[in-house]
Order: sequence, then structure tokens, then C-alpha cells
Amino acid sequence: PTRIIIDTDPGQDDACAILMALASPEQLTVEAITTVGGNTGIANTTRNAAAILELAGRADIPLYQGCDLPLLRSPVRGEHVHGETGLDGADLPRPAKQPEAQHAVDFLIAKLRAEPPGALTVVTLGPMTNLALALRKAPDIASRIARIVSMIGACFEGGNITPNAEFNAYVDPEAAKIVFGAGIPMVVLPLDVTHQILTTKPRQARLKALGNRAGACVTGMLCFSERFDLKKYESDGAPLHDPCTIAWLLRPELFQGRDVNIEVETQSALCVGETVVDYWQVTGRPTNAFYCRDADAEGFFDLLIERIARLP
Ligand code: BDR
Ligand code: CA
Repeated sequence: PTRIIIDTDPGQDDACAILMALASPEQLTVEAITTVGGNTGIANTTRNAAAILELAGRADIPLYQGCDLPLLRSPVRGEHVHGETGLDGADLPRPAKQPEAQHAVDFLIAKLRAEPPGALTVVTLGPMTNLALALRKAPDIASRIARIVSMIGACFEGGNITPNAEFNAYVDPEAAKIVFGAGIPMVVLPLDVTHQILTTKPRQARLKALGNRAGACVTGMLCFSERFDLKKYESDGAPLHDPCTIAWLLRPELFQGRDVNIEVETQSALCVGETVVDYWQVTGRPTNAFYCRDADAEGFFDLLIERIARLP
């Protein structure tokens, strides 16, 4: 199996991604979860990650708390979407599980150094603060990461927090700039893809009909977080963002894209956090990421539902 570390700010869609990964042990080994402030503050995101691990019966997986605040900027939160806890709608008990004492940034450095180069894939589902700080503190880890798979950015679809910036890039653009510039192979699942992955009523009904606790939980979470997006996009179902990263790891053939150059805007007041994707290769800048543009939504939901069915 591919060995992964998931860096995350749960978040209903983060939680769904974590559950999908935990339900796929024959393909993915989740080595650890690291948390970051994003959708909500770090105390919430860490508690939510612990609750999800307990829900899946995987409290044995270590959890490391990371940065609450972006590298340079004041935090921008998403409680208007995700609710006060960041995970409203899931109805989970307060977890007993606590994070490890080590900071997530120090864990990332120590773990990557302890493993042979190429042993670990890092999945990022929130602002890239932890990974950026780890790369600044220990540049040698760059060559040890097999690949970074990230839900971040947007190009053709426009932004979701400003007209041209996606939330994870916007919250900590300096961090994203550091990570995109680190020379590590990257796969990017942007809004262009996630806006095709819609939680329509029939898809939610299929999840609910699974009859297990995880299925009920995922349905409750999606139902809560979609309220905001349904109004915003006037679509049948809301976009499901973060699980696209796990789906790419499990079944990359569900996605189409190409190798591109991506730069992150940090200067412009109007465009800060924009991922500038050279999709048509007009700049001659070297490629630094595989950018997914399209996805097979039916195939994605078949996979998600099959995996959630395996959980308690
Ligand atoms: C991203 O922002 C967060 O609200 C979601 O969890 C996802 O990671 C989508 O823009
Ligand atoms: Ca997230």
C-alpha cells in the first residue's frame, strides 16, 4: 500500500476524505494525521480529527497538532460553511483521543528523515502552513517526499473565497508558494474538479442507505455543509472537495489532467491566493504539478460509497 500522512483542517469534507482513506487499507496506509488551522481553529480541527479516527475504530493512528495561524497573515476561517465546531452535522461524541506531544511540523521532519527517500506521500487538505514550515526548517526533506497530493487552487472555475482564489490557497498563500516551489512532485485537485463532484440527493440517499454509523455520519455532514453551497452555486448538490485527493490515490483513472506550471500569487491585493496555472503552456516555465481538470463523478461516488460501507 501507499504510505500517506494526511495534513488536514476538518471540516466535513476533510473528515470524509480521512474516512475514505481509513477504509482502504489494502491500498493506503495512513501513517499519521497532522492538523492545521483553516476551516476553524486548531483546537477544533484537532478534536475533529480525533473524533473521526475514533469513529473509524482507528484511534491507534497517531495525531499531531500543527500550526493554528498562517505564516504571515491573519487567519481566515470557514465557520460560515462548516459550523461552529467545524464538523457540524456529524453528531460525534467528544473524543477521548489526544494528540501526541510533538508538534506536527517537527513530526513531519523527523518522520520523513527516518524513512527511506520516496517512502511517504503527503496529502494536504487545508492551508499548507505545516508543510511549508517543515520545508523551511528542514529543506532536506523535500527530496524524501514521494509526492504531495493536494486539494488546492482553481483555474477555469474561478475561486470560492474571492473571485479568483480557492480557500486553502487564499488562507496561506505564502505557504502554498513555498510548497509549489520546493521541487516535489505534486498532484493538484482544484475547484475545477471538485465542482464536478456534487452531493446530489440520490447520492446522499445511497450513502444513508448503507445503514452503518459512518454512512449516517457522512450523510449528516454533507447535508450540513451543503446548505451554504446550494445557495451559492444554485446547483443540485454541493461540491465535495477533499475526498478527491484520496480518490486520486485509489483510482487515478477517474481523473483527467496534465502536467503544468503553477505559481501562487502573494503580492496583488486583488488576486492574492490565486493559483496561476499555465494550462496552455504559454510561459515556458517548468512544470511543477499534475493538474486535474476533469473527473468521473459517478465513478467517484461509486468508489466513495463502496469504501464508506466497509466502516463501522
Ligand atoms: C477547501 O476549503 C475548505 O473549506 C475545504 O475543507 C476544502 O479543503 C475547498 O476550497
Ligand atoms: Ca479542508
